[in-house]
Amino acid sequence: MSVPAKTLDNLSTKQRALLERRLKQKHDQESLPLKSDDENLVLAKSIGSVDELLSKFYGRFPWPWPAMKFDYLDDPYFETVMVNQDLGDWTHQVLPGNPQIWVAGCGTNQAIHTALRFRNTRVVGSDISSKSLDICAQNAKAIGLTNLELKEESINDVPYQNRFDYVACTGVIHHNADPQSTLEKLVASLKPGGVLELMVYNRFHRLITSSFQKAVRIFTEEKGAVNFEAEFSLAQKIVNSLTVKDSLERAFIQYMDFSESDFADLLIQPVEHSYTVESLAMLANSCDLELVAPCISPYAKNLATFMWNLIFEDAELQEQYDALPESRRWQVTNLLLNEKSPLLWFYFQRKDSGRRRKSEKQMCDEFLETAFERTSSTQRSYIREEDGSYRLSPKPVPYPLVLPDSSVRKIFEAVDGQSTMKEVLARLGITPTFAAVNQIRINLTTTAFPYLKAVQTNSR
Ligand SMILES: C[S@@+](CC[C@H](N)C(=O)[O-])C[C@H]1O[C@@H](n2cnc3c(N)ncnc32)[C@H](O)[C@@H]1O
Repeated sequence: MSVPAKTLDNLSTKQRALLERRLKQKHDQESLPLKSDDENLVLAKSIGSVDELLSKFYGRFPWPWPAMKFDYLDDPYFETVMVNQDLGDWTHQVLPGNPQIWVAGCGTNQAIHTALRFRNTRVVGSDISSKSLDICAQNAKAIGLTNLELKEESINDVPYQNRFDYVACTGVIHHNADPQSTLEKLVASLKPGGVLELMVYNRFHRLITSSFQKAVRIFTEEKGAVNFEAEFSLAQKIVNSLTVKDSLERAFIQYMDFSESDFADLLIQPVEHSYTVESLAMLANSCDLELVAPCISPYAKNLATFMWNLIFEDAELQEQYDALPESRRWQVTNLLLNEKSPLLWFYFQRKDSGRRRKSEKQMCDEFLETAFERTSSTQRSYIREEDGSYRLSPKPVPYPLVLPDSSVRKIFEAVDGQSTMKEVLARLGITPTFAAVNQIRINLTTTAFPYLKAVQTNSR
């Protein structure tokens, strides 16, 4: 790209320097994918330079803030069963009993939560921020965790090939210079039959934050190297002097604790890509992955919306919507609910997994033919003290902690470990439409709502 000499002549020295820097930047970017105007990609020059920025950024603002408590269940296989059910696997086999797990871009807490969720296996947690890993290691030690291995490394540089049964990577690849290339590394690390839990930003949740980040960057762009300290105080000044709270609320700010890390993570992030269901499915496809099912994380559960399927009053419209191919249906939800649509948090599998992907409809059909029993476990927690240490709660509490939603409670109470779900629903006079059955499935048999466990045919 060149600029006519005449145009350059009309510019002041400062403007000319700025334009020249822009052109150089553009040149450096030419090997990276097309940029969109909605995302914060000003600093996305190269994979290495963004990795360096991220290591500094998350070194200064480790994320998230320390957990108030870390929970674990006495049944070490409880979570494995539930992840399998999330995937529509009523035989509990896709994820093996002792899966090899990688938490890629683990931050300060996620690797600990994961190692406690899957206590009978070893978990690897990697991050590019040594500070985040230090905090994580310190807390892991404080609670006596022995099944966690932490590594300071960039996903973009790891050598892992066909190694893990389960890879969790949430809130990470969209901060990298080239998410496709980062995702390729995650795919390579999966065993062919492995499962990837991936969360990337929903475009409609990030329009405001990405705009804010870009506005802050305009104030600082002429100062050369990025200075997060200066950006942080500038962002604070803007928030305090403008009535931006309303618009920030549309960007999920109401769910933040407004710690320094949340504030920085939201408003001065170095790089922020974002997606819709459609562009995420395309990204996955380009990395030989297929989208398996939505994942409702404990975090997502607390948000206003987490259901990807809409319920319409008009029966004909419902029928038309339900008849759409799954990712098209979820894209409609994404577009219609816009900033109120769920987080883009999904399970994926390799295209060469050898396992036929099940649609939600197939999951529901099989769900109807399956018998269930109520789950029962107990939970204990390590609770954070004022001095930063963690104390084990004195008594285990029954788990799940609360009863299922009233809309599905009668079904929960009616299962007997023998009758299929279809028989249970018939006894209760519930018509098994796809929309109704899918709601029941999600509200009773998933990680987010772990109330029922499929009874294995051979043990019945
Ligand atoms: C928003 S935090 C999310 C942390 C964690 N995944 C969670 O959900 O709690 C993003 C984390 O990803 C890490 N990160 C970003 N890019 C990375 C990369 N290429 N390799 C390793 N870690 C990375 C950052 O250092 C940061 O700790």
